[in-house]
Amino acid sequence: MLVTLEGLDGSGKTTVQEALRDRHPDAVFTREPTRSWYGEAVRRSIAADDADPIAELFLYTADHAAHLASTIRPALAADALVLCDRYTDSRYAYQGASLDGVVKRPMEYVRGVHQPWTRPPDATLYLDVDPRVGVERASATNKFERAGFLAQVGENYEQLIEYEPERFVRIDAERSPEDVIGAAEDALERLLDGEDCSVR
Ligand code: TYD
Repeated sequence: MLVTLEGLDGSGKTTVQEALRDRHPDAVFTREPTRSWYGEAVRRSIAADDADPIAELFLYTADHAAHLASTIRPALAADALVLCDRYTDSRYAYQGASLDGVVKRPMEYVRGVHQPWTRPPDATLYLDVDPRVGVERASATNKFERAGFLAQVGENYEQLIEYEPERFVRIDAERSPEDVIGAAEDALERLLDGEDCSVR
Protein backbone atom coordinates (compact mmCIF):
# COMPACT_ATOMS: atom_id res chain seq x y z
CA MET A 1 0.00 0.00 0.00
CA LEU A 2 1.30 3.43 -0.95
CA VAL A 3 0.32 6.28 1.38
CA THR A 4 1.52 9.79 0.65
CA LEU A 5 1.79 12.85 2.87
CA GLU A 6 0.97 16.17 1.29
CA GLY A 7 0.55 19.75 2.39
CA LEU A 8 1.88 23.26 2.06
CA ASP A 9 5.32 24.18 3.33
CA GLY A 10 5.05 24.59 7.08
CA SER A 11 2.19 22.06 7.40
CA GLY A 12 4.33 19.75 9.56
CA LYS A 13 4.69 16.80 7.17
CA THR A 14 8.19 15.97 8.33
CA THR A 15 7.18 15.85 12.02
CA VAL A 16 4.25 13.58 11.16
CA GLN A 17 6.41 11.32 9.00
CA GLU A 18 8.89 10.91 11.88
CA ALA A 19 6.11 10.00 14.31
CA LEU A 20 4.65 7.46 11.89
CA ARG A 21 8.09 5.95 11.47
CA ASP A 22 8.19 5.12 15.20
CA ARG A 23 4.82 3.39 14.94
CA HIS A 24 5.59 1.46 11.75
CA PRO A 25 9.24 0.46 11.87
CA ASP A 26 8.77 -2.11 9.07
CA ALA A 27 7.35 0.38 6.59
CA VAL A 28 9.44 1.99 3.86
CA PHE A 29 9.73 5.75 4.47
CA THR A 30 10.77 7.84 1.56
CA ARG A 31 10.37 11.34 0.14
CA GLU A 32 10.37 13.57 -2.90
CA PRO A 33 12.59 15.34 -3.80
CA THR A 34 14.74 12.26 -3.16
CA ARG A 35 18.30 12.05 -1.84
CA SER A 36 19.55 10.76 -5.23
CA TRP A 37 21.50 12.89 -7.71
CA TYR A 38 18.21 13.59 -9.47
CA GLY A 39 16.93 15.01 -6.18
CA GLU A 40 20.14 17.03 -5.86
CA ALA A 41 19.45 18.56 -9.27
CA VAL A 42 15.96 19.45 -8.05
CA ARG A 43 17.39 21.15 -4.94
CA ARG A 44 19.75 23.20 -7.06
CA SER A 45 16.79 24.33 -9.11
CA ILE A 46 14.73 25.19 -5.98
CA ALA A 47 17.60 27.40 -4.81
CA ALA A 48 17.83 29.20 -8.17
CA ASP A 49 15.46 32.14 -8.42
CA ASP A 50 15.85 32.25 -12.21
CA ALA A 51 15.14 28.54 -12.84
CA ASP A 52 12.94 27.94 -15.88
CA PRO A 53 9.60 26.55 -14.64
CA ILE A 54 9.26 24.00 -17.46
CA ALA A 55 12.82 22.78 -16.92
CA GLU A 56 12.05 22.56 -13.22
CA LEU A 57 8.89 20.51 -13.81
CA PHE A 58 10.93 17.95 -15.74
CA LEU A 59 13.67 17.82 -13.10
CA TYR A 60 11.06 16.98 -10.44
CA THR A 61 9.43 14.53 -12.83
CA ALA A 62 12.76 12.83 -13.63
CA ASP A 63 13.39 12.48 -9.90
CA HIS A 64 9.94 10.90 -9.52
CA ALA A 65 10.53 8.43 -12.39
CA ALA A 66 13.83 7.31 -10.88
CA HIS A 67 12.23 7.10 -7.43
CA LEU A 68 9.45 4.86 -8.76
CA ALA A 69 11.96 2.53 -10.39
CA SER A 70 14.50 2.40 -7.57
CA THR A 71 12.29 2.50 -4.46
CA ILE A 72 8.51 2.67 -4.79
CA ARG A 73 7.79 -0.17 -7.25
CA PRO A 74 10.27 -2.66 -5.66
CA ALA A 75 8.89 -1.93 -2.15
CA LEU A 76 5.28 -2.36 -3.31
CA ALA A 77 6.24 -5.57 -5.15
CA ALA A 78 7.60 -6.85 -1.80
CA ASP A 79 4.23 -5.97 -0.21
CA ALA A 80 5.66 -3.24 2.00
CA LEU A 81 3.73 -0.32 3.40
CA VAL A 82 5.29 2.69 1.69
CA LEU A 83 4.98 6.17 3.19
CA CYS A 84 6.17 9.00 1.00
CA ASP A 85 6.65 12.60 2.18
CA ARG A 86 5.46 14.53 -0.92
CA TYR A 87 4.66 12.71 -4.15
CA THR A 88 2.80 13.38 -7.41
CA ASP A 89 0.27 15.78 -5.85
CA SER A 90 3.14 18.12 -4.91
CA ARG A 91 3.97 18.41 -8.59
CA TYR A 92 0.33 18.91 -9.58
CA ALA A 93 -0.19 21.58 -6.92
CA TYR A 94 3.21 23.38 -6.95
CA GLN A 95 4.14 23.16 -10.62
CA GLY A 96 0.46 23.71 -11.41
CA ALA A 97 1.04 27.10 -9.75
CA SER A 98 4.54 27.84 -11.07
CA LEU A 99 3.40 27.14 -14.67
CA ASP A 100 0.48 29.54 -14.42
CA GLY A 101 0.68 31.77 -17.50
CA VAL A 102 3.33 29.51 -19.08
CA VAL A 103 1.06 26.68 -20.32
CA LYS A 104 -2.73 26.44 -20.55
CA ARG A 105 -4.47 24.59 -17.70
CA PRO A 106 -1.15 23.91 -15.94
CA MET A 107 -2.39 21.41 -13.37
CA GLU A 108 -4.08 19.27 -16.01
CA TYR A 109 -0.93 19.50 -18.12
CA VAL A 110 1.28 18.24 -15.26
CA ARG A 111 -1.18 15.44 -14.42
CA GLY A 112 -1.22 14.46 -18.10
CA VAL A 113 2.58 14.21 -18.19
CA HIS A 114 2.48 11.69 -15.29
CA GLN A 115 -0.66 9.75 -16.08
CA PRO A 116 0.70 7.14 -18.55
CA TRP A 117 3.48 5.86 -16.30
CA THR A 118 3.16 6.88 -12.65
CA ARG A 119 1.83 4.75 -9.77
CA PRO A 120 -0.99 6.70 -8.07
CA PRO A 121 -1.10 6.65 -4.26
CA ASP A 122 -3.67 4.40 -2.59
CA ALA A 123 -4.34 7.12 -0.02
CA THR A 124 -3.09 10.61 0.75
CA LEU A 125 -2.97 12.33 4.12
CA TYR A 126 -3.44 16.03 3.43
CA LEU A 127 -2.14 18.25 6.24
CA ASP A 128 -4.37 21.26 5.93
CA VAL A 129 -3.05 24.67 7.01
CA ASP A 130 -3.94 28.17 5.91
CA PRO A 131 -1.19 29.43 3.56
CA ARG A 132 -0.44 32.30 5.97
CA VAL A 133 0.20 29.81 8.78
CA GLY A 134 2.40 27.78 6.43
CA VAL A 135 4.46 30.81 5.44
CA GLU A 136 4.92 31.81 9.07
CA ARG A 137 5.98 28.34 10.15
CA ALA A 138 8.23 27.71 7.15
CA SER A 139 9.82 31.18 7.52
CA ALA A 140 9.97 31.45 3.71
CA THR A 141 13.38 30.04 2.95
CA ASN A 142 12.74 29.36 -0.71
CA LYS A 143 10.81 30.83 -3.62
CA PHE A 144 7.96 28.29 -3.24
CA GLU A 145 7.17 29.46 0.27
CA ARG A 146 5.89 32.97 -0.46
CA ALA A 147 2.34 33.72 0.63
CA GLY A 148 0.68 34.47 -2.72
CA PHE A 149 2.28 31.47 -4.34
CA LEU A 150 1.34 29.14 -1.46
CA ALA A 151 -2.25 30.38 -1.60
CA GLN A 152 -2.39 29.28 -5.24
CA VAL A 153 -0.79 25.93 -4.35
CA GLY A 154 -3.44 25.50 -1.63
CA GLU A 155 -6.20 26.12 -4.18
CA ASN A 156 -4.66 23.49 -6.43
CA TYR A 157 -4.63 20.94 -3.60
CA GLU A 158 -8.32 21.71 -3.00
CA GLN A 159 -9.00 21.05 -6.68
CA LEU A 160 -7.17 17.72 -6.47
CA ILE A 161 -9.26 16.74 -3.42
CA GLU A 162 -12.39 17.64 -5.35
CA TYR A 163 -11.30 15.43 -8.27
CA GLU A 164 -10.59 12.41 -6.05
CA PRO A 165 -12.21 12.81 -2.60
CA GLU A 166 -12.04 9.02 -2.02
CA ARG A 167 -8.22 9.15 -2.01
CA PHE A 168 -7.71 12.02 0.46
CA VAL A 169 -7.86 12.17 4.25
CA ARG A 170 -7.91 15.81 5.36
CA ILE A 171 -6.12 16.50 8.64
CA ASP A 172 -6.48 19.87 10.35
CA ALA A 173 -2.79 20.73 10.82
CA GLU A 174 -3.25 24.05 12.62
CA ARG A 175 -3.60 22.20 15.92
CA SER A 176 -0.77 21.25 18.29
CA PRO A 177 1.85 18.84 16.91
CA GLU A 178 0.55 16.12 19.30
CA ASP A 179 -2.99 16.44 17.97
CA VAL A 180 -1.85 16.45 14.35
CA ILE A 181 0.36 13.41 14.93
CA GLY A 182 -2.51 11.64 16.73
CA ALA A 183 -4.91 12.33 13.86
CA ALA A 184 -2.39 11.10 11.28
CA GLU A 185 -1.70 7.91 13.28
CA ASP A 186 -5.44 7.21 13.61
CA ALA A 187 -6.02 7.81 9.92
CA LEU A 188 -3.20 5.47 8.96
CA GLU A 189 -4.47 2.73 11.32
CA ARG A 190 -7.93 3.01 9.81
CA LEU A 191 -6.53 2.88 6.27
CA LEU A 192 -4.53 -0.23 7.14
CA ASP A 193 -7.72 -1.78 8.59
CA GLY A 194 -9.37 -1.12 5.24
CA GLU A 195 -11.72 1.55 6.57
CA ASP A 196 -12.84 4.45 4.44
CA CYS A 197 -11.76 7.71 6.09
CA SER A 198 -11.76 9.89 2.99
CA VAL A 199 -13.15 13.42 2.75
CA ARG A 200 -16.25 12.27 0.83
P1 TYD B 1 10.22 19.77 0.84
O1 TYD B 1 9.68 18.40 0.91
O2 TYD B 1 9.54 20.83 1.65
O3 TYD B 1 11.78 19.72 1.13
P2 TYD B 1 12.57 20.15 2.46
O4 TYD B 1 11.87 19.45 3.60
O5 TYD B 1 13.96 19.62 2.17
O6 TYD B 1 12.47 21.66 2.50
O7 TYD B 1 10.22 20.19 -0.70
C1 TYD B 1 11.00 21.25 -1.15
C2 TYD B 1 10.18 22.22 -1.95
O8 TYD B 1 9.89 21.69 -3.24
C3 TYD B 1 8.85 22.57 -1.32
O9 TYD B 1 8.72 23.99 -1.30
C4 TYD B 1 7.83 21.98 -2.26
C5 TYD B 1 8.54 21.89 -3.57
N1 TYD B 1 8.12 20.80 -4.46
C6 TYD B 1 7.57 21.11 -5.70
O10 TYD B 1 7.43 22.28 -6.06
N2 TYD B 1 7.23 20.09 -6.55
C7 TYD B 1 7.37 18.79 -6.22
O11 TYD B 1 7.04 17.91 -7.03
C8 TYD B 1 7.94 18.47 -4.92
C9 TYD B 1 8.14 17.03 -4.53
C10 TYD B 1 8.30 19.50 -4.08
